Parts: sequence; structure tokens; C-alpha cells
Amino acid sequence: MAKKYLIETYGCQMNVHDSERMAGLLEQAGFEATDADDDADLVVINTCSVRERAEEQLYTRLGHIKGLAGRTGRAPMVAVTGCVAQQEGAQVLAKSKLVDIVIGTQRVKMLPVLVAQAEAASQPLVDVATPYDEPTFPLGLTRRDDPVKGFVTIVEGCNDYCSYCVVPYTRGHERMRAKAEIIREVEELAASGRREVQLLGQIVNHYQAPDDPACDFAGLLEAVQEVRGIERIRFASPHPRHCSDRLIAAMRDLSKVCRHLHLPVQSGSTRILKAMRRRHTREEYLTLVEKLKTALPDLQLSTDMIVGFPGETDDDFRETLSLTEAVGYHSMFSFKYSPRPNTLAAQRMPDDVPEAEKTRRIVELQALQKGIQASLHEASIGRTVEVLVDTTSKRRAWELAGRTSGNTVVNFPGESSWLGRFVPVRIERAGAFGVWGQPVQAATPATEVTTC
Ligand code: 5AD
Ligand code: SF4
Repeated sequence: MAKKYLIETYGCQMNVHDSERMAGLLEQAGFEATDADDDADLVVINTCSVRERAEEQLYTRLGHIKGLAGRTGRAPMVAVTGCVAQQEGAQVLAKSKLVDIVIGTQRVKMLPVLVAQAEAASQPLVDVATPYDEPTFPLGLTRRDDPVKGFVTIVEGCNDYCSYCVVPYTRGHERMRAKAEIIREVEELAASGRREVQLLGQIVNHYQAPDDPACDFAGLLEAVQEVRGIERIRFASPHPRHCSDRLIAAMRDLSKVCRHLHLPVQSGSTRILKAMRRRHTREEYLTLVEKLKTALPDLQLSTDMIVGFPGETDDDFRETLSLTEAVGYHSMFSFKYSPRPNTLAAQRMPDDVPEAEKTRRIVELQALQKGIQASLHEASIGRTVEVLVDTTSKRRAWELAGRTSGNTVVNFPGESSWLGRFVPVRIERAGAFGVWGQPVQAATPATEVTTC
């Protein structure tokens, strides 16, 4: 009987995609997926360490597995992968006797080999090597459960070393994937019927093709636009510093590039941005937003924001609030600062904003943001938007959801067979996290619809 695996994923889209890759590798090695941990022979915990809370989840989860093994008398093999694995290496083994394998972020491809070796070995295995090479991954192997959209990695790692961020230490130096391989993977997605591609990287717009010196990120978007069958192109995340006029023009001119940009800002105060080593000021960011809004009037923006960074005063925080209002984000991920290992901020800047004050600031920021997005959604009532259906309800066959080009979640009644199709929907009702509407005709691409 085939052995069963379960992968648990924490963190960002990069981790979600690594889990898809590991699932494909394990299936090629003869494993079958299960979603019950008491049924699994192998549990892979794909970890995140970008914030302290995310890291703690690993040890909470290992505690659950230990409890389960105690009750059932059956202990699965446990592999820890992802950013905590890279960061802690063999220390993970010292903290938990349950763990059999620790695999770093640049060794994902080794998973089946290490599983086989660990079965034969009496010792746990650790592989957190960081070979300095181009990121490649065999085509056709990734297990993709989303029938509508697919991730394609274009850049791995980061050289920016923002002072709060652990990513350069956990994901390593920036490495660009070959354009030819990226395009082949996008073609593979299209051939499998997927309509949307999401290009992934820590700083996607720093992309420079290693196999085509003339191709930058705008050039890559142009190449992806040419892939027949792909209807929508998204990417995450761009850095404000690399949003060139050429890129803005490409976004404007390429019909498949979605009218949504996740543009992390992190703070509204130039003083704090400097301490964060973000390499952009508040003013430069706001100028860029104006440029983007002029070139792409229907563009919807989202961002990441940190509150309570070392030295952040109430005045700095007010600047974060005023920038939030000035931009009018359609959504925001906001976080309380937590010191991360090896980072400049953790080493040199005392974490001096009290926890209660961080909480007060994030609550105020989130309340402001919720009001902004609710009113943006409210303003869309009466419009007809084009929705790519990506979700059907498990409970009610007629409940569908999808996203607009601008990334607004739209809920509406329809048929489950519309999954993966474009539907024009008239918005009738709005809330802070999405809108509700009625399809204006059957699921065929419409001509007279707005994109946001
Ligand atoms: N503390 C809080 N938030 C952080 N982020 C990254 N590092 C930290 C940290 N030390 C946030 C940033 C980043 C997002 C992925 O996580 O906003 O864009
Ligand atoms: Fe981290 Fe800054 Fe690199 Fe983003 S750009 S991954 S925040 S170091």
C-alpha cells in the first residue's frame, strides 16, 4: 500500500508554492496525499519565520503531533522545511525529538531523497545547504490543486536587507530563474486549462533574465502576455524603488496584466523608513502612487504595513495613518513589529514601543483601513465587473466567488460549472471584505464591463 503524506503550510505564497512542489515530488516517489494527520506516514511542516508568532506555530504543531502519537501509538516521520528550518538547522532537532528531517529553503528538491535516507538511517538528517545557483524546478512535477490559477516563481531570495526582515537570511541571495523556463511553465499552466498566472518573487520587479540580457521585468510581462490561454497576469511583490516608467507603461499597455498592485510601503514616516532601510521616502512613494493612478485610473492598490518599529513615535504613526488615507488602499496586511534573528533592527535597535502601544496602533490602523475599503466597495455598487470564478461553495452549489482584475472578492449566485470562467456581475451590496452581486448574463466574457 502506498505511503501517505500530509503537508502543512504556514506563511507566504512562496511557501504555498514550495508545498505544491514538494507534493509533486512526493507523489512522483510513490506517496499519496492525505489530510488526516493520524493517517499520515510522513508529515511535512513547511514553516514561516517572518514574524515571531509564525515561528511559534511550528512548536505548537509539533506538540500536537506528539500528543497524537502518544494516543495512537503510531508516530509519523516528521520533516520540517521552510524558513524556520533554514534559520535554525540542527537546533530544531534539539528542541524536538519528534523531527526526523530538517530541510532548508534551497533544498526542497531533496525531500524524497532525504525521506528515503531517513528511513534507513537511525539518525535525524539536516540539509540546509545554500548552493549559489539559478533556481530551477522540473516542469510538470508541481501538484496544483487550484484549477483556475497557478504560481510561477521568477526570483528567489533577496539582497535588500531591510532592517526588520529575516528573508535574506532564510531565503538567501537573490537568484533569477531563466526566462525560457518561466515561459515554459506558464505555457504548461495554460495547457492545463488555468486562466491566471501569479508570478512570484521577493522583489519581482528587480527581475533580469539570466538567459536574455535584454529582458527585465517589463519584458517578462510582455513575454507572458503572449502565452495563449492565460487571461490574467498577477505578480507579488514589487518594490516601490523598482517601479520604473517603463514598467508602468507596460502595465498600462498589456491587456492581461491585472489592475491590482500590491505595493508594500511598511510605514508612512520617512524617518522610520530610513531606519527600516527601505530605500524610499514617504514622498517618493506618494509620487509613485500618483504616477500609477494617472497611468492606470482603475488600478487598485494594497500594501504591507508595520506598526511599532523601534523608535516609532506617535507622530510617526500619525504619518502612517495619513499615508493610508492619502493612498486609499483596497486592502492592507498590517503587523506589529517583532525582532527577528540576525536582522539589523534586532541587533542594533531596542524594541522600545510597548506591546500595549503596538496593539493600540494596529487596532487604530485596521479600523481606518476597514472604513476605507468599505467605502471603496460601497462606491462600486451599481457597476458591472468582470469576475474570474475561482471558488464554489461546498455547502451550496449555487454560491460562487471570484475576483475582479483589481482583486476585489465578488460573491454571487451561479452554477458550479462556471468555475474558471469570466462572468459579468452587477454589484448590489458591499462590505469591508468583499461585495455581492448578480450575474448579468451566462458565464461568457463580456465586452462592456469595467475592470476594477
Ligand atoms: N515584524 C513585523 N512584520 C514584519 N514583516 C516582515 N518582517 C517583520 C517583522 N520583523 C512584514 C512586512 C512584510 C511582510 C511579509 O511581513 O510587512 O512585507
Ligand atoms: Fe524583506 Fe525588504 Fe527583501 Fe522584502 S525587500 S524580502 S521586506 S528584505
